[in-house]
Amino acid sequence: MRAFIDSLMAKMTLKEKIGQLTQLTSSWESTGPTMRDSYMQDIAAGNVGSIFNAFTAKYTRELQQIAVEKTRLGIPLLFGYDVIHGHRTIFPISLGEAASWDLKAIEHAARISAVEASAEGIHWTFAPMVDIARDPRWGRISEGSGEDVYLGSLIAKARVRGYQGDDLKRTDTVLATAKHYAAYGAAQAGRDYHTVDMSERVLRDTYLPPFKAALDAGAATFMTAFNELDGVPATGSKYLLTDVLRGEWGFKGFVVTDYTAINEMVPHGYARDEAHAGELSINAGVDMDMQGAVFMTHLEKSVKEGRVSPARVDAAVRAILEMKYRLGLFEDPYRYSDEAREKREIYKPAHLEAARDMARKSMVLLKNEGDVLPLAASARRIALIGPLGDSKEDMIGSWAAAGDRKTRPVTILEGLKARAKGATVTYAKGAAYELGSTDSSGFAAAMAAARDADVIVAAMGEKWDMTGEAASRTSLDLPGTQQALLEQLKTLGKPIVLVLMSGRPNAIGWAAENVDAILHAWYPGTMGGHAVADVLFGDYNPSGKLPVTFPRNVGQVPIHYDMKNTGRPYTPEKQGQKYLSRYLNTPNSPLYPFGYGLSYTSFAYSPVTLDRATIRPGQALTASVTVSNTGKRAGEEVVQLYVHDLVGSVTRPVRELKGFRKISLKPGERRKVSFTLSDRDLAFHRADMSYGAEPGAFKLFIGGSSDATASADFTLTE
Ligand code: GLC
Repeated sequence: MRAFIDSLMAKMTLKEKIGQLTQLTSSWESTGPTMRDSYMQDIAAGNVGSIFNAFTAKYTRELQQIAVEKTRLGIPLLFGYDVIHGHRTIFPISLGEAASWDLKAIEHAARISAVEASAEGIHWTFAPMVDIARDPRWGRISEGSGEDVYLGSLIAKARVRGYQGDDLKRTDTVLATAKHYAAYGAAQAGRDYHTVDMSERVLRDTYLPPFKAALDAGAATFMTAFNELDGVPATGSKYLLTDVLRGEWGFKGFVVTDYTAINEMVPHGYARDEAHAGELSINAGVDMDMQGAVFMTHLEKSVKEGRVSPARVDAAVRAILEMKYRLGLFEDPYRYSDEAREKREIYKPAHLEAARDMARKSMVLLKNEGDVLPLAASARRIALIGPLGDSKEDMIGSWAAAGDRKTRPVTILEGLKARAKGATVTYAKGAAYELGSTDSSGFAAAMAAARDADVIVAAMGEKWDMTGEAASRTSLDLPGTQQALLEQLKTLGKPIVLVLMSGRPNAIGWAAENVDAILHAWYPGTMGGHAVADVLFGDYNPSGKLPVTFPRNVGQVPIHYDMKNTGRPYTPEKQGQKYLSRYLNTPNSPLYPFGYGLSYTSFAYSPVTLDRATIRPGQALTASVTVSNTGKRAGEEVVQLYVHDLVGSVTRPVRELKGFRKISLKPGERRKVSFTLSDRDLAFHRADMSYGAEPGAFKLFIGGSSDATASADFTLTE
């Protein structure tokens, strides 16, 4: 490879080299503020090394032919696309997949996404998005794995493995992208693209580890984030892109910016003009300019005038050419653009079945009073009410790649009807979900439908584009007139099952008090309606656990389970005392905690046993519990291990997830579940920023949620 690339680079002019550093979007989709209609001429002029938002074997072949046949050196294009949770067969949104806590299923979903995307000529997906997010106002919380660094890191690895497989030369694997580097999820006030500022310790303990995990799993590329961090836009941050990524972590792939992120350093107030922005970004460690055409326009002059070294340009070009070589594109630039394979691979029944399976596993049962679920045979008349009940476009959520939004998705109504066997299912939209809508014109019909029913299934939540990019909200409430309709439905005195569909935690405090059952279905994907029916009718016993805390209201945000204790911690026993860390009008506890999720059966935990209560550095202890299925049906439980480091050279969170195991138990079955812990699991960035554990007292908890109570104490010695 080195010899081949050396000889190719020796022939390349500076202009041709800069062409390799330029990525443009096709006109097939717009995922950002600008578009260049000249992209096909730009390709023919040798000014483009990669195109994104172009797919199908036919179209990628057409564009590839321009690059290979019309340019002097015929260097093949790299085709990128946002295959975030499926390409044609759409899986639940990433936050939903995370709620499955099923790493194998998550990897399998990414694998299928790669098989379908690569069958349509895609070489590279801009995924996984690994941004830790603790602010549900931020719409992009939907695209990641939630609030926890341990779960988020394991999911990052699983997704990279799924996309890249173990051989990039295979035509059914694609390059992965760890994005958005870094700390994009900590945008001030949950407002997308807003300022990020945090201590280096929080950055290194919470926001960087999933990126390091993706890199350790072999992520071929990184994408820079839009936000600034500590006053420096990530796209111009030498600290992030060179010192940490290459210096500390040894990253060998290449870095692409986010959409026109170089240009945006001018409004950030970090660059005088676009030429200056280009110099700052490539000198910081950026290799490829997504859609900004800054390198295309200014870099040649910057190099000629000595503000960017030829060696820096060569290093960027080499990294990109090596990736094209590893994909086999120099041997056959058209090897991914194969119409026969495309027909064979997309929407394969096995893919649709996997999407249905993941959708079932992603759903979280938040409430089930009086076992109103699963729907009993006595539920002869089901009234499905709400704007999410029969909406194909909403089933697949945001960032749904080439997923068909109009015909393919199975709605909840279709899923219920297909499964209801003898029961009648009526539907009324009833309420509007548009932000600010006051439209209650559908209430009467909805109330009429509900009046005749044995059970009401309310399908409510947010419209699919109320999360994803540039979709922040200052409220977490059900938008439009849904809440008002829900309260009217309540007056009928019938069982109400709320099926919630959204991409963020919603503040559903009234529902939590007043409806009988709540199932969070996220946006469950192409097969979502069938998966909802599988769960509501009990063909599948829900097993999902929240990957993100559900606040009672937006005033509690940010709220996450691994908070600090503070010097005046509030505990219920101190009720009535004034000087405590609390609110006047809301409890400190969330509506539903991280790691929480119910089942149609129940589980009991024995006390925790330890094989030793003291460990030296390098020694491991084993903590065990026996979990019993104390209910009447088989079910799965995510057994979670949390650790509290009681005293540190800096204060430590009251709990941190350090392990989990998803197990299946038959009724009455018991299983011993064990976790090992060593000082490696207890490491953090200490007062002096060195990384490691500290001797002292610890408490561990094991249970089915982050508020697990079964605990044991142990000590780490010097
Ligand atoms: C968008 C998103 C990024 C995506 C890119 C290409 O603005 O921020 O996640 O990969 O542009 O569509």
